[in-house]
Amino acid sequence: MTKRIKIEALLKSSQTNIEVTVKGWVRTKRGNKNVNFIALNDGSTINNLQIVADPNLISEEILKQVSTGACIAVNGTLVESQGAGQKFEINAKEIQVLGAADPEKYPLQPKKHSMEFLREIAHLRPRTNTFGAVFRIRHAMAFAVHNFFNEKKFFYMHTPIITGSDAEGAGEMFRVTTLDAKNPPLKEDGSVNFKEDFFEKETNLTVSGQLEGELGALALSDIYTFGPTFRAENSNTTRHLAEFWMIEPEMAFYDLQDNMDLAEEFLKYLINYALENCADDLAFLEQRLIEEEKNKPANEKSEMTLTEKLRFVAENDFERITYTEAIDILRNCNPNKKKKFQYLIEGWGTDLQSEHERYLVEKHFKKPVILTNYPKDIKSFYMRMNDDEKTVGAMDILFPGIGEIVGGSQREERLDKLVSRMNEMGVPTHEMEWYLDTRRYGSAPHSGFGLGFERLIIFVTGMANIRDVIPFPRTPGNAEF
Ligand code: 4AD
Ligand code: MG
Repeated sequence: MTKRIKIEALLKSSQTNIEVTVKGWVRTKRGNKNVNFIALNDGSTINNLQIVADPNLISEEILKQVSTGACIAVNGTLVESQGAGQKFEINAKEIQVLGAADPEKYPLQPKKHSMEFLREIAHLRPRTNTFGAVFRIRHAMAFAVHNFFNEKKFFYMHTPIITGSDAEGAGEMFRVTTLDAKNPPLKEDGSVNFKEDFFEKETNLTVSGQLEGELGALALSDIYTFGPTFRAENSNTTRHLAEFWMIEPEMAFYDLQDNMDLAEEFLKYLINYALENCADDLAFLEQRLIEEEKNKPANEKSEMTLTEKLRFVAENDFERITYTEAIDILRNCNPNKKKKFQYLIEGWGTDLQSEHERYLVEKHFKKPVILTNYPKDIKSFYMRMNDDEKTVGAMDILFPGIGEIVGGSQREERLDKLVSRMNEMGVPTHEMEWYLDTRRYGSAPHSGFGLGFERLIIFVTGMANIRDVIPFPRTPGNAEF
């Protein structure tokens, strides 16, 4: 056989009647005793390549093994397709079965499987059209993240995954230890003696690279992190993972306004990148959503198709309002007055739930919203205190169908104010002298934000559940594979 070519490249060929070799997994085989049509997919593109196999050239013994899921190598002639639906096909001269797949046992059949079932066979689901499309888009988005920041001369910084600090002060972390769970060394007072642990202190998986990112920004000006983060919160929602990826840029000399501008530009860049570079996969996912909504009542159908929605977000300014303005809108809105919200908005100071965020975005403004200047008590210790001493320079970006997609702030760069916030909120200053040092020596105004990578992917792909945009989701009770 000749050198293998990927189907994605082959489908762009300007030549026909050339000898080619392709390798991939059989999606379907149909035909009769005179001819067989094999739909082959190698994952390089959503598009299958049609293989025409003549039983006079390909033995019955081989053809019998060419069943859904089998991996084959095909050598033959690339020709213009006679049939509708594809430009090219291959007239097979030789087929080798690289790996058969027993049709009686292979779990992925050419029929509609439920998302729940596919999650159980997450080791095979990348072979479906939907997951192939999602994972190619996921790759493209990761690539675009690096492109965006590289073009802006931001430096990619690797912050630690194992850490002794709790960046969000949230206290919902996974412990990292080599101590014997059954028989840990104890101190005199009966508590576990972490001095005898691997790191000689308590350590956890990081919930955010931000604090270390700030150290980078106060030296290199503009940095970003892009890595896995871990949260042991027991949130069984379609928006939460225990292990997710986050992008956290941190910029010296940026105020809250600069921070919002960058975040909005960044999100629009990523969406445009998908529209320009993932057109085939988006077209497939768009069609999938249309099919899915066919049986829904009119009032539950989306007003826009997937790509219309992406274009809309990429082309329109995000709405920017303060937390205080948002509370006014929510207090007086119909679902609040008619007690339709699960959590009613009564006064200033309460945290917003995702039902409130989605009301603002989907019903009130009908576009992405950036909410700023939240009450200090519902935000982290590092956010910059505003002059009113009640609110902090926070900003959350809310997206339709998602709720919060970005969380960020201007950081408190004034040592005295930072220390007093830490004391008020019970953040141990003695363990964070390294962080405080940046405020002691050459402190500077700075800002940053975190984009939840999987929430971005949900938005771009139109998938309904965050478990379906990461290859192997980790959620409470689930750590398979
Ligand atoms: O709002 P969060 O908690 O902010 C931070 O971690 C800051 N240190 C970011 C910064 O300023 N550098 O998380 C940021 C984003 C959220 O807006 C959301 O998109 C995503 O991370 N996120 C999650 N995604 C999936 N599963 C979870 N459990 C998530 N928790 C947060
Ligand atoms: Mg947040």
